[in-house]
Amino acid sequence: MQTNGPQPRLPMNAAPGKRKEWRAFGVLILGAGILLAAQRNEAAGKNWAEGAPQAPQAAPSDFVGAEACATCHEDVAKGFASNPHSKLAEEHGKAGVTCESCHGPGRAHVESGGDKSKIFRFSDASAKEVDEKCLGCHQGQHANFERSAHGEGNVSCVGCHSVHASADKEHLLKAAQPTLCYQCHSDIRPQFGMAFHHKVDEGLVSCSDCHDPHGTFNGKHVKSTADQNAICTKCHMETRGPFVYEHVAVKVEGCLGCHSPHGSQNARLLNMPGINMLCNQCHSPVAAHTVAGVSQGSSELSPCTSCHTYIHGSNVNAAFLR
Ligand code: HEC
Ligand code: HEC
Ligand code: HEC
Ligand code: HEC
Ligand code: HEC
Ligand code: HEC
Ligand code: HEC
Ligand code: HEC
Ligand code: HEC
Ligand code: HEC
Repeated sequence: MQTNGPQPRLPMNAAPGKRKEWRAFGVLILGAGILLAAQRNEAAGKNWAEGAPQAPQAAPSDFVGAEACATCHEDVAKGFASNPHSKLAEEHGKAGVTCESCHGPGRAHVESGGDKSKIFRFSDASAKEVDEKCLGCHQGQHANFERSAHGEGNVSCVGCHSVHASADKEHLLKAAQPTLCYQCHSDIRPQFGMAFHHKVDEGLVSCSDCHDPHGTFNGKHVKSTADQNAICTKCHMETRGPFVYEHVAVKVEGCLGCHSPHGSQNARLLNMPGINMLCNQCHSPVAAHTVAGVSQGSSELSPCTSCHTYIHGSNVNAAFLR
């Protein structure tokens, strides 16, 4: 890995002391990623049907094939033809994922005329059993899931995805965002109804623009940009820098030092009802400077940013005036 390139930036609210470890961790992860990718390539040549962990005693003769399932589960089988699991997999030149790739060998179930207890049922399985099935093939994409708040909170893959009855066919989601997320995070919803908010309910920004529900290396499932900046700078490029004169607060506290990410009663999603109040958290009002004989800081006449316009950093002025 490149070591003398541009320094990775701090995540949104990281303390500077965490930086080195964080980076070393990144190197480890990169290594693990390469290993995983290698394993995936090896698996790519195989039939997907072997991807998921099956009962240890399963023999080829225990599988009956999807045609057999279709004789009794006609509707499910018909719907499945357009599922990304059969469609995409075939397009990608693989054999396709079939019923038994997920439900396990079906002979005993078929021969008993449909005994429920003789087939793997997702509705009956524990969160860990479900995840293990799905991750049998999707480990490469979502390697961190079990360490995420969702994985640890026993929200399994089928907490958000439905294979046969999805409202959002593209990603097989039970419901489209943000409805999906509000089903469990109803406490978050009012934040997006505040006077100033990211337009999530309006469909302009989605929860997964900022969060990866499958887990990230930051707290609260928060994503970062490809170059390790706070995810915010992916859309708000002008705040990203690097600047000749950085505002230390942006680099150390991160965006959340001054902004509320979901919504706020204050314009510009600020954490404080007044700009001067916000600045004075860190800059003593007593030390307020005098400009042309007029004390500025302590007066509430004009907001600090009426002069300190380039508050996120400047290339020409150390006091962010220009
Ligand atoms: C001979 C007809 C028959 C065949 C063939 C058959 N099933 Fe079933 N299956 C049933 C019946 C009937 C039930 C419902 C049992 C009940 O409700 O008690 C059932 C239930 C199920 C369930 C559980 C449904 C639930 O409510 O949780 C799954 C999963 C399932 N089948 C999958 C399969 C798969 C996969 C195949 C092919 C390997 C297959 N079945 C082949 C008759 C069949
Ligand atoms: C990618 C994994 C996967 C594949 C492939 C798959 N299923 Fe399922 N199946 C599930 C999951 C997960 C559920 C739980 C309900 C859901 O998510 O829709 C389920 C539920 C079911 C049920 C229970 C009824 C219900 O809707 O809850 C039946 C019956 C069933 N599947 C049959 C089949 C048949 C027949 C096939 C092949 C045509 C098949 N499944 C292919 C994952 C899969
Ligand atoms: C046997 C392997 C296998 C298993 C088991 C499996 N999948 Fe998949 N899944 C695939 C393949 C192959 C595709 C098609 C896309 C591709 O080629 O990468 C796919 C596609 C998907 C997609 C759509 C991807 C997209 O690009 O939008 C979702 C979502 C998904 N799977 C979720 C699940 C869930 C949830 C489970 C467990 C219930 C599961 N899968 C089990 C192999 C599998
Ligand atoms: C808390 C909800 C949630 C859980 C739990 C969840 N997913 Fe997802 N998943 C999503 C959302 C939302 C998307 C669409 C992401 C987007 O639009 O960027 C998605 C997308 C995917 C995709 C498409 C490829 C991608 O990364 O965009 C796959 C494959 C997938 N999920 C598999 C899984 C598997 C396997 C599990 C369990 C280990 C799982 N998901 C658990 C919400 C969830
Ligand atoms: C089936 C219920 C369920 C769904 C659906 C769901 N979550 Fe969660 N989520 C949880 C649980 C349970 C936790 C862990 C306990 C907690 O911290 O609240 C969690 C944790 C989180 C956290 C971390 C909170 C923290 O304090 O660390 C974030 C962020 C999050 N979810 C975002 C989302 C997003 C975005 C979606 C939609 C794509 C979503 N969730 C869908 C149940 C769900
Ligand atoms: C503009 C980016 C952004 C969007 C969009 C976003 N979040 Fe967040 N969210 C964050 C950040 C950043 C945090 C971390 C806050 C912290 O660490 O104090 C967070 C925190 C959370 C938490 C942890 C609890 C809390 O209040 O700190 C949950 C749960 C959550 N978000 C869910 C959601 C859901 C659900 C959606 C969509 C309806 C969503 N978020 C949309 C950036 C976003
Ligand atoms: C997916 C793109 C995206 C991401 C990621 C994102 N934003 Fe935004 N943000 C927007 C859009 C779009 C607007 C609305 C702009 C408008 O209405 O003119 C906005 C508005 C804002 C505003 C208010 C601007 C104004 O003029 O009132 C602030 C402040 C802001 N975002 C901060 C953040 C922070 C902090 C983060 C990270 C936690 C973040 N954004 C992540 C797209 C994004
Ligand atoms: C030291 C406090 C502070 C920090 C840290 C901070 N901002 Fe701001 N930001 C402000 C203030 C104050 C305004 C309002 C300026 C005004 O209205 O004159 C603002 C305005 C904005 C706006 C509205 C457009 C604009 O430039 O006026 C966006 C978008 C924004 N900030 C994004 C971010 C992002 C992304 C980060 C993290 C990289 C960040 N901010 C960090 C204080 C801060
Ligand atoms: C979270 C704390 C924090 C907040 C909030 C904050 N700052 Fe700062 N600011 C700093 C730090 C730390 C420095 C670097 C001080 C130093 O180098 O001596 C700094 C530097 C500055 C400088 C350059 C001073 C110099 O010595 O070159 C200006 C101007 C400034 N801030 C204005 C503002 C304004 C205006 C606001 C409100 C929009 C604000 N700051 C909000 C922490 C903060
Ligand atoms: C009328 C314009 C104006 C307003 C309003 C204003 N400032 Fe300044 N500020 C200046 C000028 C001009 C300088 C001096 C720049 C220089 O020395 O090059 C300065 C310098 C500073 C410095 C650096 C002081 C130093 O010791 O180098 C800080 C910190 C600062 N301002 C914070 C604030 C805060 C906080 C507010 C709001 C409470 C505020 N300013 C309001 C114009 C203003």
